[in-house]
Amino acid sequence: MWKFLLKIAIIRYSFVIFIFTGENMIKVIAPMAGITDSNFALKVIPYGFDVFTLGGYNTDYKTVTAGEKILKRGRSEFIIPLEELYSYIENEINIIKNRHPEIKISVNLRATSPDSIIAISKINNLDIIEINAHCRQKEFLDIGCGQNMLNDLNNLNDFVSEVVKKVKSNQKVSVKVRANVKNVDNLIVAKEIENSGADYIHIDAMKPGVPNADFNLIKEISNETDIFIIGNNSIIDIESGKRMIDAGASGISIARALIDGKLNFDISKI
Ligand SMILES: Cc1cc2nc3c(=O)[nH]c(=O)nc-3n(C[C@H](O)[C@H](O)[C@H](O)COP(=O)(O)O)c2cc1C
Repeated sequence: MWKFLLKIAIIRYSFVIFIFTGENMIKVIAPMAGITDSNFALKVIPYGFDVFTLGGYNTDYKTVTAGEKILKRGRSEFIIPLEELYSYIENEINIIKNRHPEIKISVNLRATSPDSIIAISKINNLDIIEINAHCRQKEFLDIGCGQNMLNDLNNLNDFVSEVVKKVKSNQKVSVKVRANVKNVDNLIVAKEIENSGADYIHIDAMKPGVPNADFNLIKEISNETDIFIIGNNSIIDIESGKRMIDAGASGISIARALIDGKLNFDISKI
């Protein structure tokens, strides 16, 4: 009898938690250009992730040219001819969803205008469109892309709003940003992204000179906005993951700790 009562109490309690927290916490595999493809996905998803991010991909002539220069100087990149990009990503998604139908797929996209991102958003089974306002390689900054999008907030707002307006109704929009960029106010950026209607801010909370993420910044954004925060940077164990959630992130993402296709801690404990 007491077991039955305990079960009822657990069900009710979980329901109350769900009502108060709205959406469940999510665990995301963050994008790593040249690495996070379907082959990599099949290795790392079983560690207990909810979302896999493909890419970043270059989606227009200028970003492809920048990507080719970056590859030439020895950094990893996905180099996919523009005319094949749509079917390439579609195929990558199908490979992952065939094995893991429950996983949500995000695709990290670099672009100099919203159009090429909107075109990719029409792919079947693509759950999350992630606008890259994060990469800091000189070749991307020179064309006003990646992290440089944070320098012109009117343009960022127009860009994100346009994508939000044009994606399919069952898709979500994420904006991946880097924190603590010189002359950029992190909080104003977060508010602008929220105002433009994005569903997630995926924030690389790096802080120069500090080995862990900028948890104070995550706290500030979570106190001052209602946007769903995916907290990223230096999550390498259960403790750093918990700290990110305690600071106010609604989700966590991991890149480098997965780079060998393995995770050496139990993510279910976060
Ligand atoms: C090899 C490599 C490639 C990356 N490529 C991208 C990219 O294309 N787009 C992007 O938004 N972030 C990219 N990142 C950044 C990661 O997604 C993440 O923000 C960063 O590594 C910090 O998280 P971590 O401490 O878990 O690694 C890349 C990181 C690495 C190490």
